[in-house]
Amino acid sequence: MLAIDLADPQTFVDNDLTDYWRRLRADFPAYWHPPNGEHPGFWVISRYADVMAVFRDNQNLTSEKGNVLVTLLAGGDSASGQMLPVTDGPRHRDLRNVMLKAFSPRALNRVRKSVRTNTRAVVADFVRGGEGDFAQEVASVIPNITISALLGVPDEDRPDLMSWTKSALSSDEADQSPADAWLARNEILGYFSDLVERKRKEPTDDVISALARAELRGEGISDTDLVFNCYSLIIGGDETSRLAMVDAVWTLSRHPEQWRLLREGRVSLDSATEEVLRWSTPAMNFGRTALDDVEVAGQLVRADEIVTVWNISANRDESVFAEPHTFDLARSPNKHLTFGYGPHFCLGAFLGRVEVREVLDALRTFSTGFAPTAEPRPLHSNFMRGIAHLPVRFEPDEAGLAAGDGR
Ligand code: HEM
Repeated sequence: MLAIDLADPQTFVDNDLTDYWRRLRADFPAYWHPPNGEHPGFWVISRYADVMAVFRDNQNLTSEKGNVLVTLLAGGDSASGQMLPVTDGPRHRDLRNVMLKAFSPRALNRVRKSVRTNTRAVVADFVRGGEGDFAQEVASVIPNITISALLGVPDEDRPDLMSWTKSALSSDEADQSPADAWLARNEILGYFSDLVERKRKEPTDDVISALARAELRGEGISDTDLVFNCYSLIIGGDETSRLAMVDAVWTLSRHPEQWRLLREGRVSLDSATEEVLRWSTPAMNFGRTALDDVEVAGQLVRADEIVTVWNISANRDESVFAEPHTFDLARSPNKHLTFGYGPHFCLGAFLGRVEVREVLDALRTFSTGFAPTAEPRPLHSNFMRGIAHLPVRFEPDEAGLAAGDGR
């Protein structure tokens, strides 16, 4: 059973790994995943408490050599020390504090309103249309709206940004060309260079303008670092929230009794949102590199070895979650690790929650029910987990649609 290759994206398409994770949690809490011809070996940490401990310890376990399998196995991350997720130490703390200030309650409130209005409009249109691909037509539009509102991207630039983001980041298709992805990444970086220049001249109430004004130990943030960190917000917030929203529709279609509870208002939107986030766990794993010899999950890890933590397993840990394999919108407490933990805890957690919550609210307002019209197509990735295409038919709630989709 341990002949599973966790570095191979196809593993996650071909296998149900429920028993595999149960076995690792029970018997191999620190499992040495062997190298193969193409990649080095790495530690696999699967229990909730151990995953948390790794997330917490950025003294011994650094993100600077990469925080996802692809870059860790390739030997490093080119944005190290510049992009927040792959920066550690005092620079991480300073940059994170500046970014946190840029996410002011006023800015977040503006973004929240934009997400609500737009989500309601997009979902209402989709439901009126009767059927389509929820992943492509709804769920991929909402993160773009969120990031654009957060960064202050003008409305007219949003379609371009959306198409570049899709090509640069999407792991939907197994045969995606690396050259197209590279070109799209350059378009994004070029676009943000121009936008940063514009915002330096004419600041508004958005994250780029706030970062452009900010100082790190007496020095302004360079244009390059600013652009990199705009990009890191897109990377962090695009596919993750999209996958959570798509998973919500798929899972609710498989659990009609939970859908009824939601629709009839018998569970709160807040607890439903948390369960959707736990259940979907869009980012399956993260990784670190040991700076020194260090004990992890009772195991001696040597300096320079790669340690991966599997949120997908931690979120099903039976010692923390009662009946972890039951989808229960009323689950409480629900301290999932979907957004990570500790010094790198997701900067966009508030917005990720807002997106999922608004989709759930729009679904229950505008539709009486829905059903997939074909098998969903899974994503091809060793990092992200979820559904790339979800053809679905919606039954409209005419009264809900008439009452309010923000028009
Ligand atoms: C960090 C998950 C939405 C921006 C993280 C981490 C996780 C995560 C697990 C920790 C990574 C690590 O420890 O190495 C998610 C999920 C989301 C989501 C599941 C949606 C459901 C967002 C959004 C944004 C965002 C909407 C931006 C607006 C970031 C950034 C970091 C981060 C910048 C790095 C923080 C740091 O290193 O200090 N995210 N995220 N995320 N996320 Fe998210």
